[in-house]
Amino acid sequence: MSGHLPVMMAEVLETLAPQAGQVIVDGTFGGGGYTRAILAAAPCQVIGLDRDPDAVVRGKALEQEMSGRFTIVETQFSKLDELQDKIDAVVLDIGVSSFQIDQPERGFSFMQDGPLDMRMGKDGPSAADVVAQLSEGELSTLFHVYGEEREARRIARAIVTDRVATPYLRTSELAGVVSRVIGRKHKDHIHPATRVFQALRIYVNDEIGELEKALAAAEAVLPQGGRLVVVTFHSLEDRAVKTFLNDRSKEAPGSRHAPAQAGPAATFSLVNRKPLIASEGEVEANPRSRSAKLRAAIRTSAPARSSRVTGIAGVPSLDQIKRAA
Ligand SMILES: C[S@@+](CC[C@H](N)C(=O)[O-])C[C@H]1O[C@@H](n2cnc3c(N)ncnc32)[C@H](O)[C@@H]1O
Repeated sequence: MSGHLPVMMAEVLETLAPQAGQVIVDGTFGGGGYTRAILAAAPCQVIGLDRDPDAVVRGKALEQEMSGRFTIVETQFSKLDELQDKIDAVVLDIGVSSFQIDQPERGFSFMQDGPLDMRMGKDGPSAADVVAQLSEGELSTLFHVYGEEREARRIARAIVTDRVATPYLRTSELAGVVSRVIGRKHKDHIHPATRVFQALRIYVNDEIGELEKALAAAEAVLPQGGRLVVVTFHSLEDRAVKTFLNDRSKEAPGSRHAPAQAGPAATFSLVNRKPLIASEGEVEANPRSRSAKLRAAIRTSAPARSSRVTGIAGVPSLDQIKRAA
């Protein structure tokens, strides 16, 4: 099994700027690439979070190695405000790790056959449950919104027609029906099943909801001067980070009834107005970094604003699916 090559490592260290004595949360421990680099950059402490028990096993090994400077916690990063420690900085590297993609039994890959699972943690409905339970309209919206798949409707119709006779339980079965509907070649020169798999993965793991909650949690826990660094790989994720940080780095305008009275003060100042992207050299060495975008911000002294949690219209929440399962 291959390891995970950390993306935009130099840029993460530069914008996170770890200092001696700080406590830094690596909310997406994965293979520990960021954590190791942060620990090497300054005599600080790192708390690693990951919802994947396999990543936590790797974290336990690092705990032994780093005696006292590193702790791993099996949890979702949306719950980072439940940690008891005083936190000086937070870094998030959104998405799946190569460890997860490269293991067919985790069900993330359309290239290798495995159970249609896609859960980063090991609880909640799997991708097979979602494919079995959502209506044609819901699946179509899901593929369209989370996958930006142009053939969403036709794919959803084929799945719902065929699943009556044979449920979709394997990644190869789902990849097969998508290829049958849209042909062997995707218009965007990617594997035909790429966008459908991406949509299911984002949905099964509530990735956008997790990200939005984590941003609000970081705002709640970071002290003045505390840094937040987020690396994303997908336009929906980047949009969530951009929207949040643009909103929080502006003084809110006065209301319609009291236009002269300014709203709440900015809670973050942006480190970089435009997102940083990977260098040409890195993209060449690690094609996964091609779509990476890094946004960073520094906490001001203003009180945190209340969180805002959104969803997508026309698709039931994970809670609703869980109740139906
Ligand atoms: C892209 S990898 C991180 C790689 C890491 N930066 C490194 O250098 O090895 C993302 C990791 O975050 C974890 N993850 C994704 N979403 C999560 C969430 N909502 N809560 C906790 N962990 C999450 C995944 O299980 C995966 O191990």
